[in-house]
This record gives sequence, structure tokens and C-alpha cells, in this order.
Amino acid sequence: MKALILSGGKGTRLRPLTYTGAKQLVPVANKPILWYGIEAIVAAGITDIGIVISPETGEEVKAFTGHGQQFGAQITYILQAQPAGLAHAVKVAQPFLGDAPFVMYLGDNLVQDSLTPMVERFKERHLDALTLLSPVPNPRAFGVAEVDESGRILRLEEKPEHPRSNLALVGVYLFSSAIHGVIATLEPSARGELEITDAIQELINRQMRVEALKLEGWWLDTGKKDDLLEANRIILDAYSNCVVNGSVDDQSRVTGRVSIGEGTQVINCTIRGPVIIGDNCHLENCFVGPYSSIGHGVTLSAVDLDHSVILQGARVEGIQHRIVDSLVGRRATIKPGPSHPKAMRFMVGDDCQIEVV
Ligand code: DAU
Repeated sequence: MKALILSGGKGTRLRPLTYTGAKQLVPVANKPILWYGIEAIVAAGITDIGIVISPETGEEVKAFTGHGQQFGAQITYILQAQPAGLAHAVKVAQPFLGDAPFVMYLGDNLVQDSLTPMVERFKERHLDALTLLSPVPNPRAFGVAEVDESGRILRLEEKPEHPRSNLALVGVYLFSSAIHGVIATLEPSARGELEITDAIQELINRQMRVEALKLEGWWLDTGKKDDLLEANRIILDAYSNCVVNGSVDDQSRVTGRVSIGEGTQVINCTIRGPVIIGDNCHLENCFVGPYSSIGHGVTLSAVDLDHSVILQGARVEGIQHRIVDSLVGRRATIKPGPSHPKAMRFMVGDDCQIEVV
């Protein structure tokens, strides 16, 4: 079995954060979202992985992720010239996939469940497609499945105006090579994409073996800021630990699960975990509250922040009000002007400079 991770697309929903970078590389607890998918695939025993990339962000994805050694996998990059849909990505990847069955994993999704039971079920029951479903409050934003009492999929629709259920398609699918024959006959949808949802529907129409599993754990489509902050919270809650490689002075108080990277200096700060701080950061006179991730090379001076993600190389200085629920892009700078407003909430893209006046 092979795996195909989709890491192309335009990433418009996380703008401005993804004007300059791939949304799949935005870190959650200081690790790119994409890597969680790779690790889950390898944990299910699949090591031959293709990653679909776009011309805009593909080189960055490659440079970050490499050819798979660090994951115990072999990664092949597949260029998709335009983001013409998930089924189009499979079409472009067909030379890599050949006739092998494969897991398709959307590179901006984070899924808690292990893939192993899915893979086992797919093999045992000789399926042509296995999807994962999860109830969501806003089904219009997803592919939606209508299922019978036994859980069999009756119908699928992509982002329907009038959803027939609240069961969304999670971004993990398993397919046999039958999917290629169906994709070859697809027409673009109303939004001009070759939809994987339509391809699965066509498998159903042709009476092929399509089943769905209900997701047990949490799942996040990290395409939006609040989802990303939520993903950060869940991952820090579940997996953070105390590893202090940097230096913490006597004036600082560090409580809870706090991980501090190499070469990082913490001076006169209060840090309350779960928090992760990357390598080579400088934190001075700060409060860093729970569920915050601070990327490598960040400088924080005289700031008070909570439940926020600060990306690599950003600099935040002298902000007297607490920064909450915020996402600050790489190398962005936030610093005070002569007076301060009462509260602030930020989504700051890469390379921005903000002066609070
Ligand atoms: O997150 C689950 C949802 O993902 C499903 O419920 C939907 O049925 C499915 O269509 C998909 O919807 P999204 O609108 O979230 O898809 P998005 O455009 O965000 O693309 C998902 C991933 O695939 C993302 O990492 C970008 C990549 N991609 C996307 C397109 C359209 C490609 O690699 N190539 C593409 O052409």
C-alpha cells in the first residue's frame, strides 16, 4: 500500500499567513501540520509516500520535509500545476500510485485516530473506498455524507447548500486502483474542480465496495485561524512534556509542562504550561500562559500572552495588554507606540510590522 498526501492548493483561507508560505507547513506545537500526517501514515506501516505540491509552495515543502529519512519513509514529490481539485491531484499522481491501493491524506488535516484500523478494515473487506466521517456543526463547509442505519453511504455532496446530514468527510481516504477509472470520467464541478467527493459517488453508483467509518477522536481541518489555535491547544494538551534545554534564570517561574529549546534564554519570566518554546529564543520580563507555542528564534520582551501561536523569528515587545487567541507570522514585529489601546487580538502574517499606538 502507498500513501498520497495533498499539500498543494492555494491556502487562501489562512491569508495573510499563507501568502508567503504553504498552509501545510504552519506549525502546531512547533511541528508542521504536514508532518503529523506523515507520522500517522508511517505508524500505520506505510512508507512509500507521494506528496502533491504546487509550483508556489512546493519548494518550501520539499526543503522542510526532505526525502523521508527522518520519518523512516521514502517521499516522492509530485507537482500539480494548478489546484484543480482533490481528484485532479490523484490523477496527476497516478504514475506514482500505479495499481497500488493507497491512503489519501489531506495535508492540512490533523486526525487523532490511528490509521491502522482503517487500513486493516480496507484490506479485510476488499474495499474500493473507505472514508472517515465525523459530525460537524457546519456541514456546508465540507463534503457531506448521507448514510443508512448500517452506516452505508447512500450519497455524497461537496459543500452542499442544504446538507442532508451533519456527517462531514474527514480528510483521510483509502482507495483501490478503481478510483483512477472513475476519475478519468469526471467533469469539473460548479467551482471548476475535479472533486474526490464526486469520484466516490461514482464508485457508489457503479455498485463498487464503498464504506465509511465514524471517527472516534478529534479531527481538525486547520485551514482557519481558530482551527489552528484549537489544534495547537489539543496537541499541547495531549503531547507536551517538560524538556528544558535552554537556560532559565532564578527570577523566572516555570510551572506545568513547558518545553524550552536549545540556546533559548528565559529571563525574569513566568511561564505556565502547557507551552512549547523553540530554539534560540529570547524571553525577558514576560508572562506566557497555557496553550502557547513560540517558534524558533522568537524574541518576546515585556509581553503577556496566552493561548497564542508565535511563528519563527517574530519579535513582540513592550505590549502592556495581554495578547490572547493570536497568531503572529514569521519574522513579524509588534511593538508599542506612545499610548496603548485596551485590548488587542491579532492575526499577523509573515514579515508584517505592527506598531500599537
Ligand atoms: O477537510 C476535509 C474536507 O477537505 C472534506 O470534507 C471535503 O470533502 C474536501 O473536499 C476537502 O475540502 P477543503 O475545502 O478543506 O479542501 P482544500 O481545498 O482545503 O484542500 C485540502 C488539501 O488538499 C490541502 O492541503 C490543499 C490540497 N490540495 C487542494 C486542492 C484543491 C491539493 O493538493 N490540490 C488541489 O487541487
